[in-house]
Amino acid sequence: MTSAPRANDPEAISEAQRYIWNSTAASYPSVTAKAGEPLLDAAGVGEGTLVLDVACGPGLVAAAAAARGALVTGLDFAEEMVEEARRQHPSIKFRVGDAAALPFDDEAYDALMIGFGIFLMAEPQKVLEEANRVLKPGGRVAFTVWDTPETLTAFSIVFGTVGAHIQPEPAEPPPLLGKADEGLLTGVMTEAGFVDATFERLPLVWELPSGDALFEAFRSFPNMEGASDDVLKAIRSDILSKAAEYERDGRLHLPMPAILVSGVRP
Ligand SMILES: C[S@@+](CC[C@H](N)C(=O)[O-])C[C@H]1O[C@@H](n2cnc3c(N)ncnc32)[C@H](O)[C@@H]1O
Repeated sequence: MTSAPRANDPEAISEAQRYIWNSTAASYPSVTAKAGEPLLDAAGVGEGTLVLDVACGPGLVAAAAAARGALVTGLDFAEEMVEEARRQHPSIKFRVGDAAALPFDDEAYDALMIGFGIFLMAEPQKVLEEANRVLKPGGRVAFTVWDTPETLTAFSIVFGTVGAHIQPEPAEPPPLLGKADEGLLTGVMTEAGFVDATFERLPLVWELPSGDALFEAFRSFPNMEGASDDVLKAIRSDILSKAAEYERDGRLHLPMPAILVSGVRP
């Protein structure tokens, strides 16, 4: 069986991630929104399901679950994200916590989702073991990750452009970052004790009104932090010209394929 590769310095990865997501909580990009419904379907979420949304960010998947009549709790380790989720969805319970040490009892939930979170985590194998622990027998887990980096138009445009202007400090990437391999992702599920693992590609397309909206969506990410006005101007101009290639009927249509993986706790 395949386990996730291990990080050398899990604490450094978690600290860097917490910093990124605390910085972006108030202007979180809508790029993940279209994956919410397939994620809920794969996790079997419906009326009355007791569901945990792990790495909930500002709570968009949790809100979609609540709209189905599920009884949902959201959890994220970035305090600002949890604040933002509470502000946007005051009727849903959100709490601060680490996915690798879930602050919940054994067998507490029917379903658990991790939307675009597991590939950012320092200890993905431990996270899925925790998911297994808090699910009831027969409970379902589902997670989404991005497809391979070269297929992700918005990230290639933005992060490619930023990287050409600002060289980041080298840092250890989270173990599953950029990994879209079926054997690896279903193997990690199986290794954590899940059965009936599925793997599906979601051909998502992110629509935005303009290249400026694309630049603004990532403006508060720490990789642009500290850039001079001139550098920001150059980044914006390069993003706008690259994004123009994806304009149709006055809107951008940016292919952002994702992968949906699910499993069942026996
Ligand atoms: C890309 S956002 C996804 C948010 C939301 N699930 C969605 O689909 O839009 C990733 C989130 O994972 C959270 N995260 C990363 N590692 C985590 C961990 N170990 N425990 C809890 N949350 C974590 C981040 O704080 C961030 O809010």
